Amino acid sequence: MLTCSKLLGLAVLASAAAAAPGGNESFTLVTPATPGASLQSYRTSNKLDPASSRTDSQKIISTVKLVDQKRGANDRSPPGLPAPKTFTTAVDGKLTPSNFSSNWESSSDSNSTLFKRAHSTYDQVFAGTGTGPNDRDGSIMGTAYLTYTVVSNATYNVDACLDFCDRVPGCVFANLYYEFNNELLDFVFSEKSNLKCAVYADIHTAAEKTNRGGQQSEAPPAGLTYIKHSSGYAARSLSNPPVPNGYEISFGPLDGANNAPGYMGFAFLDRYDVSACAALCNTRGVDRVGGACQFFNIWRAVVNGNPTTYTCSMYYIPAGADTAVNYGQGDLKVTYSRGYHRRDALSDGGFEGYTGCSDFCFTESYSSWIGTSPSGGFQDATIFFHSAYAHSGHSVGLLGSASAADELPGTLTPAGRINTEAGVKYTIMAFLASDFSGPGLEDESFVEVVWNGAVVKTVRAGYSPWTYYSVDVTAIGGDTVAFRGGKAPAWTFIDDIHIFRTNV
Ligand SMILES: *[C@@H]1O[C@H](CO)[C@@H](O)[C@H](O)[C@H]1NC(C)=O
Ligand SMILES: *[C@@H]1O[C@H](CO)[C@@H](O)[C@H](O)[C@H]1NC(C)=O
Ligand SMILES: *[C@@H]1O[C@H](CO)[C@@H](O)[C@H](O)[C@H]1NC(C)=O
Ligand SMILES: *[C@@H]1O[C@H](CO)[C@@H](O)[C@H](O)[C@H]1NC(C)=O
Repeated sequence: MLTCSKLLGLAVLASAAAAAPGGNESFTLVTPATPGASLQSYRTSNKLDPASSRTDSQKIISTVKLVDQKRGANDRSPPGLPAPKTFTTAVDGKLTPSNFSSNWESSSDSNSTLFKRAHSTYDQVFAGTGTGPNDRDGSIMGTAYLTYTVVSNATYNVDACLDFCDRVPGCVFANLYYEFNNELLDFVFSEKSNLKCAVYADIHTAAEKTNRGGQQSEAPPAGLTYIKHSSGYAARSLSNPPVPNGYEISFGPLDGANNAPGYMGFAFLDRYDVSACAALCNTRGVDRVGGACQFFNIWRAVVNGNPTTYTCSMYYIPAGADTAVNYGQGDLKVTYSRGYHRRDALSDGGFEGYTGCSDFCFTESYSSWIGTSPSGGFQDATIFFHSAYAHSGHSVGLLGSASAADELPGTLTPAGRINTEAGVKYTIMAFLASDFSGPGLEDESFVEVVWNGAVVKTVRAGYSPWTYYSVDVTAIGGDTVAFRGGKAPAWTFIDDIHIFRTNV
């Protein structure tokens, strides 16, 4: 049944229809400037649903149960290798090959992991069990293992081990122990020391001393390998990791992970690496309706008191601390949860600053955007307040004469400065919809993206619903951007424009 307001809308629509360009008297055209026009049937939508796609916390939690990121210095690799780059151990619930070769490498260095202050002081977390002939101990099998070295075993050389941790980017924890009956330590490596110093990008406890040796390294009658006097040291002060390039911190550290809409999926990282998570967000495939990743939530899963994995969840709608309410489940606790959103070089790319009315109105400019028409044109670029036209929110830009007064293209230009940095690559992204007047009349729809005066992208999509488009540009500083297009009745709506730094 038609509601009263819909009937009213149809009546207005019929009386306000304008003549089509070309003057075919028997044909009337509804224009975007017609109040109630959004009731017509052509618009195919693809609008953003602000409640769409919430975090799949169950899948994250069930994957935490499957993943095994616990490691220590193995018996075969030589000391002093550089720590590998951060890599993923699972993506969207599928474990990535667990042989710990780099299946994916972050583009970052390890400078934004759990971060210690330069020249850390360390606290002993646990002591060794003694050096007597029958004393046995275990070395750490834990997450975020980086590398190891051997230090002189003339003494139990804690200082040399902590100096090593200071030199390894991302190191916040060291495990010092003797390993006996290892052929490589005893006879092959030049250091001729069995005092191993294994370093980690997370802090571990004595509960994780689970590697007790047991390998046949030297030929019998030599015995199996065994561990003695294993002690652990943690950097005393952890500071906030540096914010990745192109991002701003939204919240954290908190003990809750986001349960928020606009969720795109997750990856597990082998360590708490904020830049690596940012790089995953930047390169995540776009969502058809939501667009590019704009926000990530990184957190550490602690199971039964032991660090287990580092989750990187990605979203096309920035989330806040108010939705960081998933504290874990059962044995699993969420720790070090931080949110970061991409810094937009453009302010108000969603036109939401235009609030000229409460239902339907439009303008050629307001504080954030300026619409211009070429000579002889009339209202060829406008901003509408009308949620039925918008991709998200209540306002949206329109290219093409709003009342079909002419067929000339209009230009929308931000009123304010674009906050770009010279020499940096940016991605301009926007949603476009050319579906107002239906198939046929929309055939000639077009939009050009103009960057510093040059056309860098042209979209000729014909009749099409809300669709994501992007183009990469390099900033020179003091940059300008404009969106030009429309050939009424081939109108194009434009919304949710962002200019994000392309790479971390
Ligand atoms: C006017 O438009 C109608 C509907 O599109 C079409 O059927 C008709 O042929 C047109 N007449 C002229 C003279 O173009
Ligand atoms: C280890 O992982 C890499 C990358 O995923 C793969 O190419 C390689 O075959 C794997 N090696 C083994 C021994 O499984
Ligand atoms: C990491 O940070 C340290 C200390 O701030 C700095 O000296 C070093 O150059 C950084 N490494 C890289 C690769 O940026
Ligand atoms: C020091 O390490 C070397 C090489 O593993 C070993 O032969 C030696 O016995 C160790 N010395 C002590 C005091 O443990």
